[in-house]
Amino acid sequence: MSKLSIRDLEMSGKRVFIRVDFNVPLDGGRVSDDTRIRETLPTLRLAIERGARLVLASHLGRPKGKVDPKYSLAPVAAKLGELLGKPVAFAADCVGADAEAKSKALRNGEVLLLENVRYHAEEEANDPAFAKQLAALCDQIFVCDAFGSAHRAHASVVGITKFVRQSAAGLLMEKELTHLGRAISNPERPFVAVLGGAKVSDKIEVVQNLMKLADAMLIGGAMAYTFLRSQGLPVGKSLVENDKLDLARGLLEEARTRKFRLLLPVDHVLAESPDFSTTKTTDIADTPDGWMGLDVGPRTIAQFSQEISKARTIVWNGPLGMFEKPAFAQGTLAMARAVAAATVAGATSIVGGGDSVAAVEQSGVASQISHISTGGGASLEFLAGEKLPGVEALSER
Ligand code: 3PG
Repeated sequence: MSKLSIRDLEMSGKRVFIRVDFNVPLDGGRVSDDTRIRETLPTLRLAIERGARLVLASHLGRPKGKVDPKYSLAPVAAKLGELLGKPVAFAADCVGADAEAKSKALRNGEVLLLENVRYHAEEEANDPAFAKQLAALCDQIFVCDAFGSAHRAHASVVGITKFVRQSAAGLLMEKELTHLGRAISNPERPFVAVLGGAKVSDKIEVVQNLMKLADAMLIGGAMAYTFLRSQGLPVGKSLVENDKLDLARGLLEEARTRKFRLLLPVDHVLAESPDFSTTKTTDIADTPDGWMGLDVGPRTIAQFSQEISKARTIVWNGPLGMFEKPAFAQGTLAMARAVAAATVAGATSIVGGGDSVAAVEQSGVASQISHISTGGGASLEFLAGEKLPGVEALSER
């Protein structure tokens, strides 16, 4: 990587501003999934070992520039303290006199977490005066370990880099860029991309970019119905983005012309809305009116799994069905098992996006996946071939 790394920094006795992505789920005031916090521990431990004074900042949720206790990072400070095995101080505002005093009171190896940066509208506006106030909390050293936020050109991710002397990548940031970068720039072949999720509109650029890079693409989830409908197939009441039908048709046409292997579901599990209690499985071509497709069917699972078993590189983003309901989780869980089995047989696998990561964890195969990305939107933009502003803003080595 051409960017400066935290490993290159002299941090002893210095206040280092570390932007992390602690946008974690909370349940009743407690952190219900601490994966994103645990993933930053190597960076934090390195800074602690080197005698830095750590000032941590993150967003949580989308409080839209207003203080909203529902999005407080206070429970995260408690969790982080538990994980680090040392106290973590907390500042109730991410800028201002209290945060400055608390940052100045830090001694070597001590940790301060600032309250949600998105309590200020200036964060998302990338306001320079606000970025400067954040930078005032450190001694000119910024580390970005928030891969999950690297696609956001916000003050604590990008703006702050203008007001410090050094801006370096943290270890999690480096790990993510290395794994994702290798998959798309130098993949071992065959390279198979698996895409799912609700909307085609969220993934158009990813489909377009991966069609150039991969050897095959498997599309499931609700987004598949826009493709299927564009071919004139019956889809009942399944979710279709009507304004994306031409685009979907164009992508399938391009795949055919280029002899690119793009596989769509051939069968599915349907439910009769609105209560989803009655289900049945049919071929796509036999979809009855009034029913909604909510998971891929057994023939599709077999085809997709077969394709995955031949892959040497697999990138998977997005569930293949309404995974949160057990009746429609089979396709996604089967993909998790297929990707894990291929990895055990020697393939490199990268899984990103909240639901596919949850599926991998629920199937008990997470430890078999080569790399589980902490980035949702960020990993998608990376796979779409876009430059991430939070990475671009870092100092060159
Ligand atoms: C994420 O959860 O993908 C990141 O934390 C970014 O959150 P955002 O989409 O609210 O910017």
